[in-house]
Amino acid sequence: MLKKNKPIVLVTRPIPDVGLKILETHCNLIINQRMAPFRYPDLLKKVKGVNAILCFLNDKIDKQIMDAAGPSLKVISTFSTGYEHIDVLEAKKRGIRIGYTGDILTETTADLAIGLMLCLGRRLVEADKYLRIGKWKYGWNPDLMLGRDLHHKTLGVIGLGKIGSAICRRAIGFGMKILFTKRNFDSNDLRKNKSFYKLEYCNLQRLVSDSDYIIISCTLNEDSYHLIDYEKIKMMKKNTYLINISRGKIVKEGDLIRGLKEKLIAGAGLDVFEDEPIRRNNPLIKMRNVVLLPHIGSASIDTRNKMSEIAASNIIHVLKSRQDKALLLK
Ligand code: DGY
Repeated sequence: MLKKNKPIVLVTRPIPDVGLKILETHCNLIINQRMAPFRYPDLLKKVKGVNAILCFLNDKIDKQIMDAAGPSLKVISTFSTGYEHIDVLEAKKRGIRIGYTGDILTETTADLAIGLMLCLGRRLVEADKYLRIGKWKYGWNPDLMLGRDLHHKTLGVIGLGKIGSAICRRAIGFGMKILFTKRNFDSNDLRKNKSFYKLEYCNLQRLVSDSDYIIISCTLNEDSYHLIDYEKIKMMKKNTYLINISRGKIVKEGDLIRGLKEKLIAGAGLDVFEDEPIRRNNPLIKMRNVVLLPHIGSASIDTRNKMSEIAASNIIHVLKSRQDKALLLK
């Protein structure tokens, strides 16, 4: 039963309790309790008459959805930092505010990027499987699972935003040499951070040619769509590992698969894909020199709790006309 005088919020997937509690106190909730996202036609039906939507990367929130919700819709709050699934221009036209989770996942995602680098270089996933399937027969072995170091190797970071910078701070600790690219680079950016004096700005061609590990941490936009294609992969060294923790569409996946098959690079670590979830017949699944993760960059308990709190609070702040307290797109 919906309570009178309380706004209606559609929550399109279950969220951690902390956010739920915030919403429950002030609103009527319609929650999709299943793990699977709403199918688009179901979402169209469910949004009817709601005042707010708490959505996720998998929910396409376009003009049709806003039409279906009607004029009652005041705020769309995404449980994510990315908002490419929302038609931002359309929302602005209608005065609908868009909330997002900002930089809260920066450090957690940077941790994962370093984890992928270690997994690839030191063959951690492969070694774990080797042991579990009973292949470890002779104890310590001088040439078992030989991998590549991180220290003294060159890391190329594509995109020195918040996450890129957090990755660099960690990589400095590992003793890596760091190259980076950045849109609208201003050398003052480096001066602001004392530990960044060793970082070297360069163009993408040099970065892909000279790096032993490449981490993609830029945002997806018209310039970065398919930024890494066969041409760029051909420029990489044979022992380079490519890591993507940003958005799948920055890498032309078919070209990466071709590059891996042709052994143009040593391997890849992917937390994101062109199509998510990845199809079972995707050739990447059968490749030994790749580590594949189901888009878990921000998936630590603490960070997901904070995301839940922010996504829920964004809704309450807008509905209670406290926009200044919310994390909203301008
Ligand atoms: C985001 O928030 O944009 C991440 O990709 C998922 O946490």
